[in-house]
Amino acid sequence: MKTIKDASFIRQGADFGNIRPVFKKVIWLDKPVRKATLCCSALGYYEAYLNSTRVGNFIFAPGWTSYGVRIQYQEYNVTELLEEVNTLDIALGNGRRYHGNPHEHYESITDREDALIAALFIEYEDGTNDFIPTDSSWKCSKSNILYSHVYNGETVDFNANTDEEFPVKVLEDINKDILIPTEGEEVREMARLGVVEIIKTPKGETVLDFGQNLTGYVEWKVPAKKGREFKLYHAEVLDKDGNFYIDNMRSAKVEIKVISDGNERFYKPHFTYQGFRYVKLVGFDSEDVSTDNFSAVVVFSNMKRIGYFACGHDLVQQLYENIVWGQRGNFLDIPTDCNQRDERLGWTGDAQVFARTASTTYRTKKFFKKWMHDVAADQRANGAVTDVVPDLHNWESYGSSAWADVAVVVPYWVYRCYGDTENIRDQFESMKKWILFMEANGTRRGLFDNHEHHFGDWLSLDAGNEATGGFTDKNLIGSAYLIYSNRLFIEMGKVIGEDMSYFEELYDLSIKEYRQKYLNTGKKEHETQTANVLAIYFDITDNVEREAERLVRDIEDCGHLKTGFVGTPYLLHTLTKIGRADLAYKLLLKETFPSWLFPVTKGATTMWERWDGMKEDGSFATPEMNSFNHYAYGSVGDWLYTTVAGIDSDFSAPGYKHIVFRPLPCKSLGYAKARILSDNGEIISSWEYTGKGDECKFRFTIPTGSTATLYLDDEEYEFKSGTYETVFEYKGY
Ligand code: BGC
Repeated sequence: MKTIKDASFIRQGADFGNIRPVFKKVIWLDKPVRKATLCCSALGYYEAYLNSTRVGNFIFAPGWTSYGVRIQYQEYNVTELLEEVNTLDIALGNGRRYHGNPHEHYESITDREDALIAALFIEYEDGTNDFIPTDSSWKCSKSNILYSHVYNGETVDFNANTDEEFPVKVLEDINKDILIPTEGEEVREMARLGVVEIIKTPKGETVLDFGQNLTGYVEWKVPAKKGREFKLYHAEVLDKDGNFYIDNMRSAKVEIKVISDGNERFYKPHFTYQGFRYVKLVGFDSEDVSTDNFSAVVVFSNMKRIGYFACGHDLVQQLYENIVWGQRGNFLDIPTDCNQRDERLGWTGDAQVFARTASTTYRTKKFFKKWMHDVAADQRANGAVTDVVPDLHNWESYGSSAWADVAVVVPYWVYRCYGDTENIRDQFESMKKWILFMEANGTRRGLFDNHEHHFGDWLSLDAGNEATGGFTDKNLIGSAYLIYSNRLFIEMGKVIGEDMSYFEELYDLSIKEYRQKYLNTGKKEHETQTANVLAIYFDITDNVEREAERLVRDIEDCGHLKTGFVGTPYLLHTLTKIGRADLAYKLLLKETFPSWLFPVTKGATTMWERWDGMKEDGSFATPEMNSFNHYAYGSVGDWLYTTVAGIDSDFSAPGYKHIVFRPLPCKSLGYAKARILSDNGEIISSWEYTGKGDECKFRFTIPTGSTATLYLDDEEYEFKSGTYETVFEYKGY
């Protein structure tokens, strides 16, 4: 049986400069076909057309993996597209990042060796077969894509000569063993948004507002004006004067340039995407600027939506929508930190803190399975997990606590949400290596306090704005995460029947060492909000009252949160745990800086990277690092699901086989409702104040095959599947 590995990698046999190639094969069929399958992969991106019809829906195929060791291929059933004489055209984008570091040397990636590999498998009705692989018989021509780059955009000239045919070069030395079947979810065009307003800015720019910060591209009508150049630029925000603002894209040019050949046509980019809400038009006549001529195409991984949350507080509701849009914008084959500037990388810390919210909102099982395989593939021999996956930084640095812990934390939530033991088995060695790396890098066994590279409580507010790493002792965070990750690792190991006694002993020792080294030392860097949160939430302290008192005092003294990427995900959970859900709600509902709702009051439609991405007066934080679509602080989403509405899955009966309902109604919200389409069926929890004093109506739905425990006002109630309604006097928060 032939496979795609029997085909050859090919590339253009002539120097095309930046122009993207199209590979061609004409195929004559002389007998009826039962089934035809096109198998395709590339070093770079590809887009295949059979008889001018686009094959499949996968945008940015073959997907992004740790290219050095794993490259996916796709299989498409193309039986319906076949005719007697067939033309197979496959365009090759220089793609995301086959080699090189797009972050620092992105200019150079256009001259690297992209290549295509494909094979058409034909089964005839008479039982015979054909195999048509990429080889030296294929031809190649220049496409009309003169330039294409993920960050910079695309230049297309519809006047370009695309007819001339060139020979192809067969590349013998590319290792085909790294080709693997697709593991992840396809990136697809998932939605379309229209223009909500055409703006004339004070500077006189013509700007389209799509009303939503999103990831994707614009499909637009190229005017029939031969030789004219039309340009689109993409931005997330307008500046305080209402002008187009692009400085926070850093070096990403986010420019789409099209030269008309005199024919009117709709065009959308092929091998690039942008993060934007606003689009500036350059070179257009006013008669060509109408809302009908432009639409925004939203692209992200085709995951199933499973989680929904609604409440009676408009700003909190918008916050929730922003969290969901943050996921849509950044779950693009891999979980990226941001979608706009010259970064858009698989930052492990961001994914780690957002994994629980993400896995409740969308079914991430397949998405994370693929990416976690890359986490393991890029993991260093010594067990350190890289900062970004796929790792193209290739920095000396790696193994930052809270970032590298993705190795353990993501499989944990995938298991808890979907009951998936396969993922635990797949990732077990990787998790173990990471725990052992931490163990090996302590001044004493049990601490992870002897490693140089940590990002710390990233972007927290307790060390001044310049110090991105926060004030909390980085070795404290490292040692706390050793405890947390090791505990999750032990729990998962037991699920698959591993002997975890070595790690249990390490766990006990870590707790002892941590208490001695970091608790009650009198040092300020050990008593930050984040330090107190970790001590309580990770069950490290033997004196919860003490840490709780410090945490509450700190918040009350300054009146707000100060936490960064490390502390924020657990802040409200921790306050709830110490019986201060009232304070948690106060932080959630705070509308002034710093808070979750402050960006909402400033019109945010996605989560911001910084608490002060935009200031009260509309000016911005440093353009060096100021993304308006960064989901890390969206991790508060899991507090909305598990605590406001009150649905959680129980680790000991994962996949919501046993549901934990723990709603904490709050009068300012009026009502809240969460709905989760678990693998076991639909779960609902809702509550609503009836308007009669403290009277609150609760409703719970438990799917067939699940059981549930409801915790309400210190009471516990057991439920079997069904729908239950009850009215309760509930004071609330
Ligand atoms: C990214 C982050 C990431 C951080 C690491 C930033 O540039 O955007 O979200 O986690 O670097 O420090």
